[in-house]
Amino acid sequence: MSDQPDIRPAEGRLGVLLPGFGAVGTTVVAGVEAARRGIARPIGSLTQLNTIRLGKRTEGRTPLIKDFLPLSELDDLVFGAWDPIPDDGYESALEAGVLERHHLDAMEDFLRSVKPMPAVFDKEYVRRLDGPNVKSGANKFELAQQLRDDIRRFRDENDCDRLVMIWCGSTEIFLRVGSAHETLESFEAAMKADDPAIAPSMIYAYAAIMEGVPYANGAPNLSADVPALEQAADERGVPLAGKDFKTGQTLMKTILAPGFKARMLGIDGWFSTNILGNRDGAVLDDPDSFKTKEESKLSVLEHILQPDMYPELYGQLYHKVRINYYPPRGDNKEGWDNIDIVGWMGYKMQVKVDFLCRDSILAAPIVLDLALFLDLAGRAGWGGIQEWLSFYFKSPQTAPGLYPEHDLFIQHRKLKNTLRYLGGEEPLTHLGLEYYE
Ligand SMILES: NC(=O)c1ccc[n+]([C@@H]2O[C@H](COP(=O)([O-])OP(=O)(O)OC[C@H]3O[C@@H](n4cnc5c(N)ncnc54)[C@H](O)[C@@H]3O)[C@@H](O)[C@H]2O)c1
Repeated sequence: MSDQPDIRPAEGRLGVLLPGFGAVGTTVVAGVEAARRGIARPIGSLTQLNTIRLGKRTEGRTPLIKDFLPLSELDDLVFGAWDPIPDDGYESALEAGVLERHHLDAMEDFLRSVKPMPAVFDKEYVRRLDGPNVKSGANKFELAQQLRDDIRRFRDENDCDRLVMIWCGSTEIFLRVGSAHETLESFEAAMKADDPAIAPSMIYAYAAIMEGVPYANGAPNLSADVPALEQAADERGVPLAGKDFKTGQTLMKTILAPGFKARMLGIDGWFSTNILGNRDGAVLDDPDSFKTKEESKLSVLEHILQPDMYPELYGQLYHKVRINYYPPRGDNKEGWDNIDIVGWMGYKMQVKVDFLCRDSILAAPIVLDLALFLDLAGRAGWGGIQEWLSFYFKSPQTAPGLYPEHDLFIQHRKLKNTLRYLGGEEPLTHLGLEYYE
């Protein structure tokens, strides 16, 4: 295709910076190293395992995505992190309890070499946590400058050609977009005035954007999802994506709901409850952090089912989501869904899902794919919100005025077609090139 963007080659090292080095952060770093050493496979990662069909089915062209597009190699990734808890990668992974000891011990030296930098942290925004590895500064603007210094130092010390930043930090308390977030000027003034409207995750996002570093937010808190930062990213050509990694129960929801809707089956109610016992679960036990997560989880069904268009099928849907902190399960969450569906002549049926889930095992490949795809977007010169990465998020960040797409299959098609476009190939549709992956 003639208007295909010029993509700079993926030469040199790519620094992956993680604010938040807990269960998800350490599981990504350990998994990438395990893949590099041939100890374990990066299962769940599209960039590593998925093929992409090109042209007509009869052409038989289905390369791996990573052979079709110039993505960074796993060997070229180097990791950095910030966390208020000073544990290195080995200690933090042990504490998180996601990976088994034999995996961690096999990579102990490497994991210990990743030590979190002092964080921009404020207990006011994550009340169930505390830690000593924290920066101090006159105000939030000065803290942002310290983060920018960290970013530059990391780039130099690790000889990185490019960087990306992915928020793997805790879920912050619920905040609404306000006047402080409207423009870059108001945002910077608010940082200088230590305005409570500026949460730590926003300070990281600001620092990343100002340093030209693509940024993704894996948690549901606002972070870069405010006009000031979206505009700044747009103007500076910095790719942005968010929010809230799509794992566990919401992943199941966005797989099942489009199926019921495709068959025009009604849904009266969807009750979801979870038990989980990791640090994330402890943070979400605070009602204000839970509210941030709840908003993110609840919006999914409404957008997929379009009750305004199908009031008799979905107009009465009762949707409830609960998260219960239950320490004995650690990171191994159990999620139950009860779905009351309605069929022919109004006859009722029930679907029960019991998902014995390992959340961070589902989140880690998302972090890797986002790192590689955001870097690709940056090298293609694409700034601002990358809606084609909605596939990875519970609350996809969209350009102002657009509604988010939640249906996993539509998101998947958009992701793959964007990759085809980046590689100079025709998109697949059900008309011209007969859609079939
Ligand atoms: N595990 C999943 O599958 C999943 C899915 C979707 C979203 N998320 C979100 O991803 C985030 C990480 O999840 P997790 O399971 O790794 O949680 P975790 O509690 O194990 O790790 C989060 C880490 O972030 C650190 N942190 C908190 N505030 C920080 C700050 N201001 N700067 C730097 N570090 C900070 C904490 O000290 C902690 O070590 C959470 O917000 C969670 O809601 C996780």
